[in-house]
Amino acid sequence: MKERIEALLKEIEEYKDKKESEIEEIRVKLLGKKGEITQLFDEFRNVLPEQKREFGQKLNQLKNAAVQKIEELRNQAAESGDASSASFDITKPGDAHEVGTRHPISITREEIINIFKKLGYAVAEGPEIEDDKHVFESLNFPPEHPARDMQDTFFITPGEYEGLTEEEKAESVKEGIMGYNPILLRTHTSSIQVRTMENVKPPIRVICPGRVFRNEAISARAHCIFHQVEGLYIDKNVSFADLKQAILMFVREFFGENAQIRMRPSYFPFTEPSAEVDVSCNICGGKGCNICKGTGWLEILGCGMVDPNVLEACGIDSKEYSGFAFGMGVERIAMLKWQVKDLRLYFENDARFLKEFETCL
Ligand code: PHE
Repeated sequence: MKERIEALLKEIEEYKDKKESEIEEIRVKLLGKKGEITQLFDEFRNVLPEQKREFGQKLNQLKNAAVQKIEELRNQAAESGDASSASFDITKPGDAHEVGTRHPISITREEIINIFKKLGYAVAEGPEIEDDKHVFESLNFPPEHPARDMQDTFFITPGEYEGLTEEEKAESVKEGIMGYNPILLRTHTSSIQVRTMENVKPPIRVICPGRVFRNEAISARAHCIFHQVEGLYIDKNVSFADLKQAILMFVREFFGENAQIRMRPSYFPFTEPSAEVDVSCNICGGKGCNICKGTGWLEILGCGMVDPNVLEACGIDSKEYSGFAFGMGVERIAMLKWQVKDLRLYFENDARFLKEFETCL
């Protein structure tokens, strides 16, 4: 018995670098029901009483050595990353991580911008939190214009300074924080055009994308937050014909080479003359369908020649320079292009809706 114990101890000591399956075999061989060590314990019953103490100790040593070795081998196997030793099965199919898609509004905005970039327009951006001066005053909105009304505009600070000391009043007016120049969320990105005209000498050719805010009830056709891309071109001798050509070029790039436009007279405080532009319905090709309500035309943007008052308010000599401006809603253009029936879909982030634009990347 003594020799068998010695032999097993030696054997155990020599085990190293085993795979998980081999370790299990070793465990069964030594400590399993019919394992060699288990058998030795069974035989211990027959050991002479005076030898029990010696053999008992040796057997316990042997068992401890085996248990310890097996643990050691298991740790080694786990550390070496032996796949067959791990508790997972590398042949199982993995968890697929779904790749996100770009939002249809981003896709559309970028497409619009890229078309105008080809015409030499630079991109200009500006703050969403604006003041009355840049959103209304410099754009020739008379003081009583309804768009200044609380109905349409989200005001942050009203145009009053009740409860302030004389010093604070002077300070807030100087800073443009309060006083007669209320702070508000911009209702259109024309404010970026104002900032550009204030800072850049003509010729100016910019495209102004951005988020805008209007105090409107949310429905399938209106939202209190939406996106615009507006454009501005100022140089010597810019005419309405240039405006028309720029819009036509854009429409044909965006809706297809057979697209037609028509211009209807309109009114904006900052342009004179002003027009609204319709594009021939891309669904029925102009024959009339339920998308264009049988007219064959879809309204896509507002535009006009920049009012001389606006040029002057922004420090540009209206006798030397003229220009045109236009503005369109990104959601609306995207709705027309992909026949999205409800504006709210753009804001709900329903993956099923967003996935439909996967191929437009
Ligand atoms: N700013 C106008 C709007 O938000 C759009 C527009 C821009 C119209 C430039 C004419 C010229 O509705």
